[in-house]
Amino acid sequence: MDLADALQARRSVRGFTSREVPRDVLTRIFATAQVSPSWCNIQPWRVVVTSGVSTKALTHRLSQAAESGMISADFDWPGDYPEPYNTHRRQCGKALYEAMSVARTDHEARQKAWMRNFLAFDAPHIAIVGMDKRLGLYPAIDVGCWLQSVLLLATSEGLGTCAQASLASYAPAIRDMLGFDEHIGLLFGIAIGYEDSAVAANNCRTTREDPTANVRFI
Ligand SMILES: Cc1cc2nc3c(=O)[nH]c(=O)nc-3n(C[C@H](O)[C@H](O)[C@H](O)COP(=O)(O)O)c2cc1C
Repeated sequence: MDLADALQARRSVRGFTSREVPRDVLTRIFATAQVSPSWCNIQPWRVVVTSGVSTKALTHRLSQAAESGMISADFDWPGDYPEPYNTHRRQCGKALYEAMSVARTDHEARQKAWMRNFLAFDAPHIAIVGMDKRLGLYPAIDVGCWLQSVLLLATSEGLGTCAQASLASYAPAIRDMLGFDEHIGLLFGIAIGYEDSAVAANNCRTTREDPTANVRFI
C-alpha cells in the first residue's frame, strides 16, 4: 500500500471482531516500526502487547478500575481547550455520538459508550505504551512518531486500530500485571484487530482543517 493511501485509509476503529491477528503479522508491524526516528536515537517507546487471555485480564482490570475510581494517569491530560481546539474536540465527539445515534443529553448511553474504551472496543490485542518519566517531554514526540508508524503499518496489513489515551488512564491498576518498571509512565494504548463493520461507531468520520490553518509558508 502506498504511504499516502495508508494515511488516507487509517481512521480510528471502535468495534472489532474476535479474530486474532497472526503473531507473525504483529511481529512484523512492531519490528518495522522500530526504525522510527527518535531524539538521539534513544528509542524510548516501551510496549506490552496482549493477546487472548492477557487481553481479557487487562480489559477486566481496566473496566473494574474505570467503574470504581477517578482517572489516575501518569501524564496530565489537557485541562482547558482554548479555541480552536475546543471546537475540534466537540466536533470529534459529535461525529462519534451521531454515528452511534447517541443524543448529547443521553448521559447513560454516553457513559456506556465511554466504558467501551476499557474493553478496547473488543479488540483481540492491546498494545500498552509507555516511556521513561525521567526523560521529560521530548521523548513523547518520539513515541508519537512510533505510534503513527504502527498505525500505518497496521493499516497496510488490513488491520484496524484505535490509539486510546483512556487505556492508560488507570495506570496504577495495570502497571504491575504488565511488568512495567517504576520509571515507565504509561501514555496510551492501541486497540488492534480486524474491524467489525457492523458496529455503528465505525461509521464515524472526522474531518480536518485546511492545512493553511496549521502550516504557513514564508
Ligand atoms: C494519543 C491519542 C489518544 C487517543 N485516545 C482515544 C481514546 O481514549 N478513545 C477514543 O475513542 N479515541 C481516542 N483517540 C482517537 C482520536 O479521537 C482520533 O484519532 C481523532 O478523533 C481523529 O479521528 P480518526 O483517528 O478517525 O482520524 C486517540 C488518538 C490519539 C492520537
